[in-house]
Amino acid sequence: TDRYAVIGYPVSHSKSPFIHAQFAKQTRQDLHYDAVEVEVDALAEALAHLHAEPYRGLNVTLPHKVEVAKHCEQVSARAQLAGAVNTLLRTDSGWRGDNTDGEGFLRDLKRLGYAVRGARVLVLGAGGATRGILGPLLAEQPALLAVSNRNPWKPEALAEQFKAVGTVLPRTHLAIKGDRYDLIINATSAGHTGQMPRLPGPLLAQGGACYDLSYGSAFEPFAAWAREQGAQRISDGLGMLVEQAAAAFEIWRGVRPDTAPVLAALRS
Ligand code: ATR
Repeated sequence: TDRYAVIGYPVSHSKSPFIHAQFAKQTRQDLHYDAVEVEVDALAEALAHLHAEPYRGLNVTLPHKVEVAKHCEQVSARAQLAGAVNTLLRTDSGWRGDNTDGEGFLRDLKRLGYAVRGARVLVLGAGGATRGILGPLLAEQPALLAVSNRNPWKPEALAEQFKAVGTVLPRTHLAIKGDRYDLIINATSAGHTGQMPRLPGPLLAQGGACYDLSYGSAFEPFAAWAREQGAQRISDGLGMLVEQAAAAFEIWRGVRPDTAPVLAALRS
């Protein structure tokens, strides 16, 4: 039986073991997937240990997503652009790093029917979560892509980093006053403390959609704001979670699982 795991700290709450067990069952793949708690200081040691075991592949979650790249013998272009690694594929001599978060995000938008091409898109927040989705968003050719943040310097830095890929408009929450967007994506971590960034009045265009990268209770403050904006379509990031997992599963096993029944099981 081939072994896989998610590494993180904490990791006990992770839904990845459930998701990958469902994928394995569905595609009749003989594999075992578990959760391994790895503390910040123990990352290098844990990666060597898991390689020796041997594990065939790993998912990487907080707080290791950025740091783990340093321990890879190779990192994919999209993971480099995202500045983070969420999937490791075993090679004989080490680990190859990739990032399926952006692909998972885009697949989920498509599943929901939220168009990016030609749309005016606003991303709230300018941290790691934002960095992970800008490449895939730019590839879809939005009419414009603005990144708005509380701290004004971070959007500037992102715009500079993504210059070669496409135009990111750096904004602050105050500077977007009066703008209208077709798709507003919450990539801040504010919801995890029950908060929502302070935003200036109406921002969502008629018929626009709202999407949050987080899910569960962290989604609630943004969902409430989106309803106030008159959004008819509001989604959390649970679909993205399942889609990024499916993309990792395909890298490891060469077969793409059906995400719909797994997402339905998570929601029930
Ligand atoms: P992540 O990797 O989840 O993106 P991060 O890099 O710490 O985490 O970034 C968190 C983002 O959420 C930042 O854009 C942060 O805004 P600032 O850069 O202005 O701090 C945003 N954020 C977190 N809590 C917030 C709050 N209460 N109000 C507004 N923005 C918040």
